[in-house]
Amino acid sequence: MPDLPYLPEYMNWFRDNIAGLEAYQPGFQPREAGFVKLNTNENPYPPSPRALAAVREIADDRLRRYPDPTSDRLREIIAEVYGFPLERIIAGNGSDELLAMALRCFAGEGDVVAYPTPSYSLFGVLARIQGAKAVEYELNENFGLPEDFFSAEAAIKLVASPNSPTGTVYPPATIRRLLEESSGVVLVDEAYVDFAEESCLPLLLDYPNLLVTRTCSKSYSLAGARVGYAFASEEMIAGIMKVKDSYNLNAVSAAAAAAALADREYFFLTAEKIVTQRERLRETLSGLGFSVFPSGANFLLCRPPGGRAGEIYEALLERKILVRWFDTPRLREFIRISVGTPEEMEILTGAIGAILSRKE
Ligand SMILES: Cc1ncc(COP(=O)(O)O)c(C=O)c1O
Repeated sequence: MPDLPYLPEYMNWFRDNIAGLEAYQPGFQPREAGFVKLNTNENPYPPSPRALAAVREIADDRLRRYPDPTSDRLREIIAEVYGFPLERIIAGNGSDELLAMALRCFAGEGDVVAYPTPSYSLFGVLARIQGAKAVEYELNENFGLPEDFFSAEAAIKLVASPNSPTGTVYPPATIRRLLEESSGVVLVDEAYVDFAEESCLPLLLDYPNLLVTRTCSKSYSLAGARVGYAFASEEMIAGIMKVKDSYNLNAVSAAAAAAALADREYFFLTAEKIVTQRERLRETLSGLGFSVFPSGANFLLCRPPGGRAGEIYEALLERKILVRWFDTPRLREFIRISVGTPEEMEILTGAIGAILSRKE
């Protein structure tokens, strides 16, 4: 290979904040089959048969054409399902894209972006891409929002509820207080809310600074299709529309999401199975000596006996069972386990039982 004399300098081309940026680390996606995959909070059940039929139906000559720039058919279904007008809804290429669009709109160079930690680690990455000041607020002992977060001055505050990786739900009363005390935008990331009991969507009627993001990746089993949507005031949505890519959501994914959202029966059935399975897993893990945090999501954050999370993660990996372990000071003693099918949960808990008895 020829020498590339300019290579050591290449970082100079980047804005300083990008050159120094630590990229978001997605959970491991194995290429080979045979894993019990409980590390990225995907849905263990297939997408609605109606979503799959919609994909087959649209995969024809129409793909020559650009998709609808504002995904109106999908937004109509969302409007119907949630009872919000179309003008208060935007669709995106996963909720990640909506988070990025929000930061593009509300966080400029040097502006404060405030968010609790531990939470979704993409928040800080997106803030830094903007050249904004990422200000983290440590969650309290039970992963509640810390007092100083409420009154903090920020261009935008980001809160995931249920939070990842903790599973903590911040109830509408808490979000209301946050909205009352914040002069900037409050974005509530409700990626997991369909497994919880309460959403903050009704607060949209009272607070023009609220933006709520949702996804089809978890409760609609469409992580691979990359579809998210968000609700806010009509004015806020119109502003966000200005910064989106022209055709930000492809036609195939939009059709899949519209059909999945319309299939309410399948949605409720699978969400309920996951919630039941989650509570069963909590009991089994508690019986094995784990401390398990309350979760309103499709995963559990738990501390194995003795806090030996790293060892258990490795021992599970050897058995081709993937869970998530975050090697950070606050989370090192915990593992996060996505809720799978009953069969997967049996394999997991059987393996954990065997690992624990081997180590004692
Ligand atoms: C809190 C949170 N928000 C958003 C996302 C991403 O969702 P999407 O697949 O819609 O981009 C995730 C993914 O794991 C998440 O944990």
